[in-house]
Amino acid sequence: MPPSSTPFTHPAVSSRSVFNMDIFNGKVLFCTGGGSGICKAMTEAMMHHGVEAAIVGRNIERLVQASQELSKLTGKACLPVQADVRKHEQLRDAVAKTLEKFGRIDFVICGAAGNFLAPIENLSENAFRTVMEIDTIGTYQTIKATLSHVRESHGAYIHVSAMLHFRGTPYQAHVSAAKAGVDALSNVLAVEEGPRGVRSNVISPGPVANTVGMDRLTSTAKGASEATASIIPLQRMGHVMDIANATVFLFSDAASWITGQVLAVDGGEHHIGGPM
Ligand code: HXC
Repeated sequence: MPPSSTPFTHPAVSSRSVFNMDIFNGKVLFCTGGGSGICKAMTEAMMHHGVEAAIVGRNIERLVQASQELSKLTGKACLPVQADVRKHEQLRDAVAKTLEKFGRIDFVICGAAGNFLAPIENLSENAFRTVMEIDTIGTYQTIKATLSHVRESHGAYIHVSAMLHFRGTPYQAHVSAAKAGVDALSNVLAVEEGPRGVRSNVISPGPVANTVGMDRLTSTAKGASEATASIIPLQRMGHVMDIANATVFLFSDAASWITGQVLAVDGGEHHIGGPM
């Protein structure tokens, strides 16, 4: 608990945007991994602020359902596109379908990821390679497939990474290596493409409640999330809206001089060491 005699209730996540709702009118978002969880919430927030979106993933049923939900919630068009980020020809096809439908791509979220807990000694070469291929090579291939269009619109990238590789996180060798690669790709993209008016940043989420990542990686025992929240300086678990709000900021003109950053959205957790 904070060492203070003055009671303080940490505010819950803001679900009301501080930005005008039309700031992205006429713009188009291409989001891998947008069918569920954090990336779906990022897409929803962007659509509330005016974008039309293509959400890309492997499971077309889930994508169709998500796109219908997102359109209903926001009044904006959302195109579900089936593609595995490990397959560059599928990504190029997804980009072509997005351009056919919307005519441009302004913003890209590289969010498709895979994870599970496994100690190095039990991690097969194929298991390690699979996560590298989804997270790191998938990000590289998404950049390759979209860059010429993002250049044209002087747009921006957000890569969804993690904080596992900020320290040695047990049972996470594959994802730590993969996300370190993602951060590096973003930094190089920022430097190479900055002069052409393209920005690239990383969001590294902390422990976000009710996500597949948390379900796969943390204990479901009673009281486990309260225990996690208690060691986070801001004293609560993350909400997908925390990541969504950071996304709107980083894509907006308010961040027009911000590129090559890795933004931890984690209630301060990475400064203290912890469960993630
Ligand atoms: C050890 C495992 C394993 C496990 C799979 N493998 N699960 N090894 N422990 N729990 C091994 C398999 O045995 C196989 O190796 C290899 O990994 C590939 O597995 P497949 O199932 O064939 O791969 P695939 O169907 O492509 O599935 C990819 C996946 C899967 C990553 C393994 O979990 C997936 O699709 N995940 C997507 C959803 C997801 O994970 N979301 C969470 C993202 S959270 P062998 O040697 O047997 O062939 C996230 C956040 C990170 O990324 C940061 C958190 C803070």
